[in-house]
Amino acid sequence: MNISPKLAIITGGASGIGLATTKAFVANGIKTIIIGRNEEKLKAAANDAGELCSYKAYDLNNTSGIPDFVNSLVKEFGTPDILVNNAGINMKKSFTEVTDQDFQQVIQTNLLSVFSLSREVVKYMLEIGSGSIVNISSMAAQYGIPLVIAYTAAKSAIEGMTRAMATELSPRGIRVNCVAPGFIATAMSGTALDSDPERKNKVLSRTPMGKLGDANDVAAAILYLTSDAAKFVTGVVLPVDGGNSIGF
Ligand code: NAI
Repeated sequence: MNISPKLAIITGGASGIGLATTKAFVANGIKTIIIGRNEEKLKAAANDAGELCSYKAYDLNNTSGIPDFVNSLVKEFGTPDILVNNAGINMKKSFTEVTDQDFQQVIQTNLLSVFSLSREVVKYMLEIGSGSIVNISSMAAQYGIPLVIAYTAAKSAIEGMTRAMATELSPRGIRVNCVAPGFIATAMSGTALDSDPERKNKVLSRTPMGKLGDANDVAAAILYLTSDAAKFVTGVVLPVDGGNSIGF
């Protein structure tokens, strides 16, 4: 009988949705490693989350270093059972002002780094024949939203990649799912909405539940998808959005 606690990696686990998920995992006895760029922020978040939480500072944009980084994590902590690809950046700019560099930067963090980290973690998950991965999409992949072209491209690709990964990896014991948060009150959405009341009104008016979500709402869905309760669920994109994606 395997009684050792599950081990999870959460990228961007020091703030917003990632931190809420970290706390939900720890509360459910899951040993959780959070990854981010800012050591101080990570340390504070790990203290806040409690004993089962550890952290490693790493800039996931450094894709060439990811294999060594994952090897060192596995050496120190063991093979992860769960990977939550939560780290992401947004950029709100009109279409013609987005430079190639802007576009690449968003694609790098939100897509290329997700691929590289998943590939390296999956190599280890395949050795034990089990694992669960959750990617994070957005309403920008459910319908058209202006001023977020690179973010939309990246998140739409994340949904396709989730399905492709699920078909290839599920026969080998690894489930891959995706959560598409609606508009959730975090620092990221604050930057996009607080200075733009018209956009915020538009968001709320097409959200049947009439409010922004809480990071804990998304964390609960991620916890479910990684848990044994979802052991027959793979390849889905689960909106957690107060109905925003189906709102009129
Ligand atoms: P946040 O800005 O609080 O969290 C993002 C985290 O990712 C931060 O901790 C940041 O340090 C980390 N990160 C960014 N680039 C990194 C890099 N190169 N290396 C390591 N860590 C990096 O934002 P929030 O809102 O919690 O977003 C989490 C995820 O949810 C993102 O993927 C975002 O696109 C997605 N999302 C958020 C929504 C919202 O309304 N807040 C809506 C839809 C999706």
